[in-house]
Amino acid sequence: MLRTIRPARTTLVRAVRPVRPVSGRVGRLGRHVTTGTTSSTTSASSPDLSTTLAMAIEQQGPMSVATFMKHCLTNPSGGYYIDKDPLGAKGDFTTSPEISQMFGELVGLWLAAQWLYYGQKQPFRVIEYGPGRGTLMDDSLRALVSAKSTGAKEALKEVLLVEASPVLRDAQRKKLCGAESQFKTEEDGSITCVTKYGVPIRWYEDSKMLDKLASSNDPLHNYIVAHEFFDALPIYQFEKTDKGWRELMVNYGVENKTKESSILLPGQTHIKSSDLDKDKKKTFHLVTAPTWTVASKVIPQSHKRYRDLPEWSKIEVCPDAWDVANQMGRLVAKGGAAFIVDYAVKPGVPVNTLRGIRDHKICSPFEEPGKVDLSADVDFTAIGIASRSKNKENVSAFGPINQATWLKNMGIEMRTEKLMEGKEEYIKKRIESQYKRLVDIGINGMGKIYKAFFLTHSSHGYPVGFPIPEPKDLKEPHQKPEKDPKDTEPKVVEV
Ligand SMILES: C[S@@+](CC[C@H](N)C(=O)[O-])C[C@H]1O[C@@H](n2cnc3c(N)ncnc32)[C@H](O)[C@@H]1O
Repeated sequence: MLRTIRPARTTLVRAVRPVRPVSGRVGRLGRHVTTGTTSSTTSASSPDLSTTLAMAIEQQGPMSVATFMKHCLTNPSGGYYIDKDPLGAKGDFTTSPEISQMFGELVGLWLAAQWLYYGQKQPFRVIEYGPGRGTLMDDSLRALVSAKSTGAKEALKEVLLVEASPVLRDAQRKKLCGAESQFKTEEDGSITCVTKYGVPIRWYEDSKMLDKLASSNDPLHNYIVAHEFFDALPIYQFEKTDKGWRELMVNYGVENKTKESSILLPGQTHIKSSDLDKDKKKTFHLVTAPTWTVASKVIPQSHKRYRDLPEWSKIEVCPDAWDVANQMGRLVAKGGAAFIVDYAVKPGVPVNTLRGIRDHKICSPFEEPGKVDLSADVDFTAIGIASRSKNKENVSAFGPINQATWLKNMGIEMRTEKLMEGKEEYIKKRIESQYKRLVDIGINGMGKIYKAFFLTHSSHGYPVGFPIPEPKDLKEPHQKPEKDPKDTEPKVVEV
């Protein structure tokens, strides 16, 4: 989720950090952390999902940020991704594959090269999580099948897409199979069709539907792509107080601007009216749970990365990302590799990064549920750990590295020149500006704020396009034997 946003006429990335009101505590994590209370009023123009969520909270009390996020993005009645195509100039954001065909083409080249060099030419499938309009897959397949001498076209047996949105599934079918093609519904709940290249294609609406495949003896190798998928998965937010971990939850009502622990139980009215927002508008906003919740008891204890943090640390944890990464690890362990690109500015456990994206600008995540895209920074270390948690011997994790580094190593400069050859001047300029946008490593440049991360089968060497470090530059995990093989960081190389 650049997802790119465009404030005024400047192009920005989807994932610029929103400015939040801060209740000003400096956590011992060394960052300025907030009790994050960006809020806004529900609008009369979006009553459906907003009203449902407001009523649920008023009747049952505040809900987890993860529950709120899940409803906002994929609730079948009014979730953001369910009934619209949010990409492009008329939508809310754009992404690298939508900016230039070169992005998808280089992914296709990566798939072919990874398979050719390391996959021992085994029959394989390509899996994409969150394929949007199908643009990345379309450009990738074209590049993959045109690499004729490799034999990849013949070895590609299936394309699998994981897509929650019926509108986007339809757009993907049209793009990948042709406008006249038709879906067929299968007994296992998937829908199928055949691509323009004659390769069978299958859609699953939920990643959980791939679990059976991940644990089966299916012989195909799995080559996986996930571009701006993880940042749309629901996160929990916690703070480590002097009384233990407390969950930050989404409340609806008149916001208490002064108190920190302000969860009203249904029917309770103990907050003084003088403490409440002067405008007395009801809003969705964050509150800190006054006691433990089930999530705050379990999730921060689930890994030493969270357990060992000092008091007053704040964290965002995405159990769904753990689940998907673990699934990817199981698929790659059978043979194959994964290429993941997402938004992540700082290494480490994300803190207070949830943001809304609307009309190519950052906005409050609590503004009009279902009408605003939501995104949170991706924790690549957690993805690496999860992917290897059941497969330490078979799966290696590499990265994250800047998108620009990977694109350049994959030959984007040569591809740009080739595309420009013989074109009219204005087209040349357009291609050049697309190239510049993808590899821009300025402060909010896509080449820098988007990171590439890789999973490979452990029998492979470094992933294609990954800069191979000099031995002296290798970080600690490569040089020292791990002390506790059950609970170690992944084989992450930072360059
Ligand atoms: C930000 S868009 C990225 C689209 C595309 N990868 C691109 O870069 O252009 C996120 C994609 O993930 C899908 N998606 C979001 N949450 C999902 C979920 N929980 N399960 C399956 N698909 C999901 C959306 O419908 C959309 O296709």
